[in-house]
Amino acid sequence: MAFSALNIVRSFSSSSVMNLALKNVTVIGSGLMGSGIAQVAAQTGHNVTLVDVSDPILKKASSRIEKSLERVAKKKFHDNEPESEKFMKETLQRLKTTTNTADSVKEADIVIEAIVENMKVKHDLFKTLDKAAPKSTLFASNTSSLSITEIASVTDRKDRFGGLHFFNPVPVMKLLEVIRTQETSDDTYNKMMTFGKELGKTTITCKDTPGFVVNRLLVPYMGEAVRLLERGDATARDIDTAMKLGAGYPMGPFELLDYVGLDTTLFILEGWHEKYPDNPLFQPSDMLKKLVSEGKLGMKTGEGFYKHQK
Ligand SMILES: NC(=O)c1ccc[n+]([C@@H]2O[C@H](COP(=O)([O-])OP(=O)(O)OC[C@H]3O[C@@H](n4cnc5c(N)ncnc54)[C@H](O)[C@@H]3O)[C@@H](O)[C@H]2O)c1
Repeated sequence: MAFSALNIVRSFSSSSVMNLALKNVTVIGSGLMGSGIAQVAAQTGHNVTLVDVSDPILKKASSRIEKSLERVAKKKFHDNEPESEKFMKETLQRLKTTTNTADSVKEADIVIEAIVENMKVKHDLFKTLDKAAPKSTLFASNTSSLSITEIASVTDRKDRFGGLHFFNPVPVMKLLEVIRTQETSDDTYNKMMTFGKELGKTTITCKDTPGFVVNRLLVPYMGEAVRLLERGDATARDIDTAMKLGAGYPMGPFELLDYVGLDTTLFILEGWHEKYPDNPLFQPSDMLKKLVSEGKLGMKTGEGFYKHQK
């Protein structure tokens, strides 16, 4: 049966009557991903605390969430103003922000980390969280490319630790990859799967391997496309056209690289290459390195493989 968490939210007038697997959610990092995760969790009836390092950053995140919620409300309720306003008001009431990391997890059922992609910074954060959060609190990382096992290694709750890998933009993308390490308990895994469905996502499960499912296939595919271009076998435009019309992909590899950010893709490849130097799929190409060194990072800088209007 199709499960829509939003419908559940709408069918109950008060969120307090909702029986959610993990009701109190703390999201650490209010950037692109964290603000999206916080929004979707609040939208689906969870009490959300969003954490970042400064108030101006949190203010920016709040206004980004509000704008995104307006789009959701418009799509969901069309011209029904009262319903739309009620949805916005109730969602925003469930969302608070803070810069106090330790306090933010005191009542959390789950903490989702979405901070910078750096093992040392994530370790420092999880050491703090492990001390501050109740023993029963589950921990999850939204990392794209780092090992969940390695992130969890600094905590005393490896059985209550898993990966929740969301996709950008979180309110739009339907997939959630739920990552089980060898130590993630059945109970933690089951709760994370239920939580994912409560967020309205379609969940898939993957072991803790580089890139999980989506990035493990996509990142080497983009790397191979760059090598094809580097050899002069075809133009970027023709490769993109080929993959859209010949394989039915919504974007070609170079459009995707420009969207994701060339620096992000290079960073992932370099991290994997360092860890697995013998895997040719993880070898970063000279062309990618050159474009990144020139600051051509894709849409965010106005130029990558294509020129974009900023
Ligand atoms: N961008 C994507 O498409 C994408 C997709 C899936 C997963 N991810 C993963 O999600 C995570 C976040 O990525 P993003 O693109 O949202 O990054 P981002 O740079 O947009 O946001 C990161 C936020 O974390 C905050 N932060 C840094 N250290 C912190 C700390 N110690 N405590 C609290 N806040 C802190 C920063 O101030 C910033 O606001 C990364 O691990 C990334 O690999 C990214």
